[in-house]
Amino acid sequence: MSRSPAGRQPADFAMALQPAVARDQIVDEVFARDVIAGLTARPKRLPPKYFYDETGSRLFEEITRTPEYYPTRTELGILQTRASEIARLFPPGAALIEFGSGSSRKVRLLLDAGRVCAYVPVDISAQGPKQEAARLKRDYPRLAVFPVVADFTHSFRLPRPLARLPRAGVIPGTTIGNFEPAQAIAFLRHAARMLGSASVFVVGVDLVKDAAVLNAAYNDAAGITAKFNLNLLYRINRELGADFDPASFSHQAFFDPERSRVEMHLVSRVRQRVNVCGRVIEFRAAETIHTENSYKYTVESFAALARNAGFEPIETWTDPAGYFAVQALRSG
Ligand code: TRP
Repeated sequence: MSRSPAGRQPADFAMALQPAVARDQIVDEVFARDVIAGLTARPKRLPPKYFYDETGSRLFEEITRTPEYYPTRTELGILQTRASEIARLFPPGAALIEFGSGSSRKVRLLLDAGRVCAYVPVDISAQGPKQEAARLKRDYPRLAVFPVVADFTHSFRLPRPLARLPRAGVIPGTTIGNFEPAQAIAFLRHAARMLGSASVFVVGVDLVKDAAVLNAAYNDAAGITAKFNLNLLYRINRELGADFDPASFSHQAFFDPERSRVEMHLVSRVRQRVNVCGRVIEFRAAETIHTENSYKYTVESFAALARNAGFEPIETWTDPAGYFAVQALRSG
């Protein structure tokens, strides 16, 4: 591990000082450290942000097209009918900051409303936003696009030219639900600071619903969700030289109504040992690695959470079945 003199600087800071090769090495070291920390914890876990390498991002796009995975198409439907109403809440000439952009399908609907003059997609994956930015520049010639590669749960620096523009934020999809509720509050507070006072933040919120619908959404019949979850093990093998046998793990996802969340796990089918970065990790038969939670809220429970973070809910849009909500919040 390369350490700064103070020994406690975050990796982002060290990275800014390094040439590209050393930078890749730091990224790998951080990945290795996170993986070892997760696999030596009890119960075992892995950070979900590592799902999204190139294969993982492609598989997630495929999940969004399965018949069972309703969140993406439901939210798109809401945005298609309500985009101009939502965009009217943005100050004219605003910079729109998107936390965790993937494909720009959703945000394009907001950009089409024509209020925004700059767009800042913030994403942890390096390829996504840069390629998408080129396409956006072609399709929206008057829009300034400033992609930022960063872990948006930490502070990141906004591109200089934005300093004087009014700001608005958007976090579509299930992203807010992937935080623990306490972390979601911390994230909203941090977003409020980045957006400035009295700004509008548009948040996608997946709603509590029938357990059968939720369980199906995370266990599609074609098995794409299973592939997506298991890709994490392939990635660890590929990038960190581990020797996971992914065929001896299976995907598990279920809704826990008490905690109001879908839990995703990788279950070891057998008792086994795996070598990861010079460590031997032991698995009992049926032991799981917890890979992600997806919290489901009601409109009211999410409004309460937002108030806790200093936001005031100003408007909510849902689909007729009440599967998904888009909530507009204003920061204090
Ligand atoms: N953010 C997505 C969600 O919570 C991620 C996701 C969908 C996911 N299906 C998954 C994560 C299966 C792990 C396993 O809906």
